Amino acid sequence: MIFLSEWIKACTLEQVKEGQLFGFTHDNTKILLANLKGKILATDLICTHADADLSTGFLSDEGVRCPLHLSVFNLENGKPQNLPAETSLKVYNVKIDDNEIYVEI
Ligand code: FES
Repeated sequence: MIFLSEWIKACTLEQVKEGQLFGFTHDNTKILLANLKGKILATDLICTHADADLSTGFLSDEGVRCPLHLSVFNLENGKPQNLPAETSLKVYNVKIDDNEIYVEI
């Protein structure tokens, strides 16, 4: 089976400043962008535990903390660091070109 991916334009670099979270939807894919110490990372936007928008959560060195039940997800591998979430977020490749952020979905 062949999986085809595509690079989509998410937003400009200025829209995700250091320490900030940014959520957007492309077709039916909801994606979270985070600027962790200058590095842009992309994961699923919706928490794997329940229907919480992680862009309204809290970003720290450990990752993004869900605003609803406070699980923290590592943004490099998507893994939850504490209960109640047990399922990893999907992580996406990111590239930056000419001040625009692109995500491979
Ligand atoms: S909805 Fe995120 S930890 Fe429960």
